Amino acid sequence: MTRQPQFPIHTASSTTISRRGFLKFCSLMAATLALPSHYAGRIAQALADGPRLPVVWLAFQDCTGDTMSFLKASQRTDPLQPGVSDPSIVDILLDFISLEYHETLMAPSGANAELSLNNVLQNYPGAYLAVVEGAIPTGAGGAYCTIRGRTALSIAQQVLPGALAVIAAGTCAVDGGLPAAAPNPTGATGVRTAMPGLANFAALPGCPTNVVNLAATIVYLITFNALPPRDSAGRPVFAYEEDIHDECERKTHYEHDRFVLEWGDAGHRQGWCLFKMGCKGPETKHNCSTVKWNSATCWPVAAGHGCVGCARPGFWDAFPVYQALEDD
Ligand code: SF4
Ligand code: F3S
Repeated sequence: MTRQPQFPIHTASSTTISRRGFLKFCSLMAATLALPSHYAGRIAQALADGPRLPVVWLAFQDCTGDTMSFLKASQRTDPLQPGVSDPSIVDILLDFISLEYHETLMAPSGANAELSLNNVLQNYPGAYLAVVEGAIPTGAGGAYCTIRGRTALSIAQQVLPGALAVIAAGTCAVDGGLPAAAPNPTGATGVRTAMPGLANFAALPGCPTNVVNLAATIVYLITFNALPPRDSAGRPVFAYEEDIHDECERKTHYEHDRFVLEWGDAGHRQGWCLFKMGCKGPETKHNCSTVKWNSATCWPVAAGHGCVGCARPGFWDAFPVYQALEDD
C-alpha cells in the first residue's frame, strides 16, 4: 500500500489534482488543525510517502447524512478564492486512504462485502481506521438495527477494538442523536456509551458531521500516527474548543442589542443577531463560523437561521429549536 503520487493525480471522480492543488489542500488541513503553517510540508510528506490508511466505515441507525456530507463536500482547496479551484477535499483524501468497507459506497455486496470486512480485520490488525456513522440501539437485544443478521453492537464489538483509531462521525454516533430522542424506543446510544473504554476514540458531533473536520482528523492521524488532542468527551480541540458565537459575523449586532424579533422583520433583512429567535451559538462549541459549509461559502447563521446546536449533547430534547437561551 505504499504510494508515491504522480502529479497530476487523476481521481475516480475524473477530477485532476495538480501538485499545487495538493499543497493547498495540505495548507488548508494545517490551518483547520490550528497548526503553524510550516506543518503543511510535513502533512504533504506524510500523505505522499506513507502507506494508504485502510478505512472501515460502519453505518448503523442513521439517515446517511454523514456519508452524504462526505460525498457532496466540495470544499475548495483555497477558502480565500471560493469557486476558483476544484478538486474537493474528498477527491484528494480518497487518494490517500483506502476505503475498504462502506455499505453504501462499496461495489461488493452480500457475502463478498462481508469478505471485504474480514480481509481488513485479518490483514491490517491495529492498522485500520474505523469510522462509525449512526447510533447503536441496545433495546430488544439490538434487534432494531441488524446487518447480515448481526446486531449493530456485535459488529461494533468485532471491528472497533482492533482499530488503530475510532471516529464517531456525526451526533448520532456520538450520543445517539435523533434516534435517541425521547422516548428513545430503540434504546439508541452513542459509540462510547455502548462500548466504554475505547482507547483511541474521537467524537465529531454535528448533524451532519463537517467533512472538513473529518478530513483534518484523518490527515492528522496519517501524519502523526495519533488522533489530534481531544477534550474529555473525545472531541478534537481544534474543532470544538470555541463557542460558535465567538466568531460569528453577527456578534457585533449581539453586543449592540440589535436582535431579529420576527422572521422577515427589518432586523432579519439587515442580518442582525438571531439570539432571540432561538440561536444556540453562545452555548455550542463547534467551528462552523470559521470552517463553514458548502465550499466555505455559507453556514446556518449566514443563511439566516439560528444555530440549533446540532453539535451539542442531547440537542434534540434539551434545546427546543426556537426557544431562546437564557440571557446572561
Ligand atoms: Fe451569537 Fe447566534 Fe447572534 Fe451569531 S446569531 S451572534 S451565534 S447569538
Ligand atoms: Fe450545527 Fe449550529 Fe453548526 S446547527 S452545523 S452547530 S451552526
